[in-house]
Amino acid sequence: MSKHRVSRRQFLSYTLTGVGGFMAASIMMPMVRFAVDPVLKATGESDYIPTEAKVEDIGTEPTRVDFSYNQKDAWYESQVTETAWVYKQENGELLAMSPICKHLGCIVDWNSNEEYPNQFFCPCHAGRYYKNGVNVPGTPPTAPLDVYDYKIVDGFLHFGAPQPRERV
Ligand code: FES
Repeated sequence: MSKHRVSRRQFLSYTLTGVGGFMAASIMMPMVRFAVDPVLKATGESDYIPTEAKVEDIGTEPTRVDFSYNQKDAWYESQVTETAWVYKQENGELLAMSPICKHLGCIVDWNSNEEYPNQFFCPCHAGRYYKNGVNVPGTPPTAPLDVYDYKIVDGFLHFGAPQPRERV
């Protein structure tokens, strides 16, 4: 008899391990696919979100523009509404700013505090920003409001993701 013969016990052990592994993989694969698939799927949607704001209607006073989009967080879908403050600068270009305060994330409002006219005011800790979104020194925010990337399609504003600006 050869020394390398497989014993009955070894044969059973190998066979059961192989069959067990195959069965475990058959059960686990659909579960893994269910968990990961939505994350890997391409949405095919543009990175810019259309709004109902006509560029020709935007003046030199900051105007609130609300816009909504569907958000897919893995398998959870929801509709998100966001806001931008938009106005036409002296050079004719638009400036679209996020309303999220750079101190602790409250929402700023334009020209809402009588003591500080023509400024963005944050009601949480009296944070203030100039019209161009730059934080007023000596108030809690330490950076300017984020700025939305935008493009104009058929006269309407489309927003990309907000980008942080350099601290002043
Ligand atoms: S969150 Fe805006 S000033 Fe604090």
